Amino acid sequence: MAILVTGGAGYIGSHTILALLEQHHDVVVLDNLVNASDIALQRVEKITGRNINFYHGDINERSDLQKLFSQNNISAVIHFAGLKSVGESVKKPIEYYKNNVSGTLVLLDEMRRAQVKKFIFSSSATVYGTPESVPLRETSRIGGTTNPYGTSKLMVEQILQDFAHAQPEFAITILRYFNPVGAHESGLVGEDPGGIPNNLMPYISQVASGKLQQLAIFGDDYPTIDGTGVRDYIHVMDLAEGHLKALEQIHKQQGIKTYNLGSGVGYSVLQMLKAFEKASGRSVPYKIMPRRDGDIAECWADAQLAKEELGWTAQRDLDDMMRDTWNWQKKNPAGFQP
Ligand code: NAD
Ligand code: WQD
Repeated sequence: MAILVTGGAGYIGSHTILALLEQHHDVVVLDNLVNASDIALQRVEKITGRNINFYHGDINERSDLQKLFSQNNISAVIHFAGLKSVGESVKKPIEYYKNNVSGTLVLLDEMRRAQVKKFIFSSSATVYGTPESVPLRETSRIGGTTNPYGTSKLMVEQILQDFAHAQPEFAITILRYFNPVGAHESGLVGEDPGGIPNNLMPYISQVASGKLQQLAIFGDDYPTIDGTGVRDYIHVMDLAEGHLKALEQIHKQQGIKTYNLGSGVGYSVLQMLKAFEKASGRSVPYKIMPRRDGDIAECWADAQLAKEELGWTAQRDLDDMMRDTWNWQKKNPAGFQP
């Protein structure tokens, strides 16, 4: 039996297949490589000494899915494939809804046809919109998303609730990630944002490496510890291990479950910058700029439910996140570009 990982060549997917292979799972990857490189898969094979059965295809293409399901014995699907840039989603809503919502519908439909009944979905803390209070619990109010990306995640969560209700023989786990950062400790795989990064961590590391001149800090007048935005950063290998725990549980599970995957601790932009400077020994010049549209002041998880039910907690701290980000950046200044 194998695990199908859609979007397995991407940032979180590649780290998760690494963890799956190390735990002796067989892995089939489906990725259209729109935002990834097959070099990531080659590196994972190199680290683990295991083979990945890779299909270069699209979750929107029924024929790709039918071929894959007929050629493999799939026990569960971990669904990472999708588009994830908030800013781009505002400019290209159709593409975002097509990939993230329609693509997931096609995948679920083909899973039903192939009688594959276990599904783990990559959701996001973005579904909480502007938090009424922190920490965020799975029962906190969701909604009020401010961009098509966030709305696409919210829509899929709703679809999954309805689907689980209609198909009680399915087991579905929704994982709401907070802010994934870091890289595998080998420095062979990591986050390759391609172009100018949108997210804080790759931006900071590219400034430290001299690729970008300075960090723009979006606002220092939030009601937070130092005025800059606070987030729950989670090491990508901790996140990968969260998927292994969810997979263990899904075989015993009935119906639909939702878990926050976060560290439970919030750090400000300035705290992140200082920690990165310490880990890298480089200075990161910055300038305070106006707030970014759609940003919230602070957001962090209550990760108790994942601890109680999945037996998962984040193991890696801020120093680990910074060390591994810098190690990846130094070894791969051009990302996966040869
Ligand atoms: P990523 O862009 O690195 O990976 C997504 C992968 O999906 C890429 O390899 C891309 O080529 C592939 N893909 C996109 N559309 C596809 C399609 N139609 N068919 C097949 N493959 C397709 O992103 P990531 O950071 O690894 O995120 C993985 C998932 O987690 C996404 O669904 C994302 O929305 C979600 N998520 C990410 C974050 C984050 O900050 N990175 C936070 C919360 C949730
Ligand atoms: C973190 C903090 C910024 C860049 C996004 C998505 C979310 C999820 C994770 C997928 C904020 C500040 C950032 C910069 C800055 N993705 N910042 N200068 O916005 O919390 O979440 O990624 O699901 O949906 O919205 O992450 O890394 O962009 O920002 O000052 O150049 O860093 O204002 O306070 P965010 P981020």
